[in-house]
Amino acid sequence: MNEAAVLKQIIERRRSIMPKEYSAAPIPDNILNEILSAADFAPNHKRTKPWRFKVYRGTAKNELGQVLAATYQQQTPPALFLEKKYLDISDKVNKSDTVLAVVINFSGLVPQWEEVAATAMAVQNIYLTCTANNVGCYWSTPEMKDHIGSFLQLEENQKCYGLFYMGMME
Ligand SMILES: Cc1cc2nc3c(=O)[nH]c(=O)nc-3n(C[C@H](O)[C@H](O)[C@H](O)COP(=O)(O)O)c2cc1C
Repeated sequence: MNEAAVLKQIIERRRSIMPKEYSAAPIPDNILNEILSAADFAPNHKRTKPWRFKVYRGTAKNELGQVLAATYQQQTPPALFLEKKYLDISDKVNKSDTVLAVVINFSGLVPQWEEVAATAMAVQNIYLTCTANNVGCYWSTPEMKDHIGSFLQLEENQKCYGLFYMGMME
């Protein structure tokens, strides 16, 4: 297959896949590194490279799951609280091998929307590299993302734009 045909196939095959579909197999380190370095090739104005992907695996990932679930509980009025949703939050994290926090570092050098756009392109590079390596993944943008800044250790000019779940497919 020529390059264009391979690219077309990967683009068309890319899907959002939920953690319940992932296998328990770990993502090999070399594949994870390839996925993360693909982000760095995204176009970005004035070379600000605004994306900051914070990588959560192992114990740090467990902590993230607990923080997300606790945040949901704190932020949800008791009348709207759903036990199933609460349990699903940490379950999704547990079933993922790796979770990325999609963070944007606003440089002030270009309009903010350009740094959001550049980061979305970096996420697409990650999505496509996951697809090519049989890694399931999806970008989730729950309300909780706006309340976990201290856990993520965000700086003043940074904002979380969601969580990116990843795990090997069978
Ligand atoms: C910026 C952005 C935010 C998203 N947030 C969510 C989300 O919060 N929950 C979710 O289930 N999917 C989310 N998605 C994934 C979309 O639901 C998914 O891309 C869409 O269903 C199309 O499926 P596909 O990716 O397999 O083509 C998001 C996608 C993008 C680009």
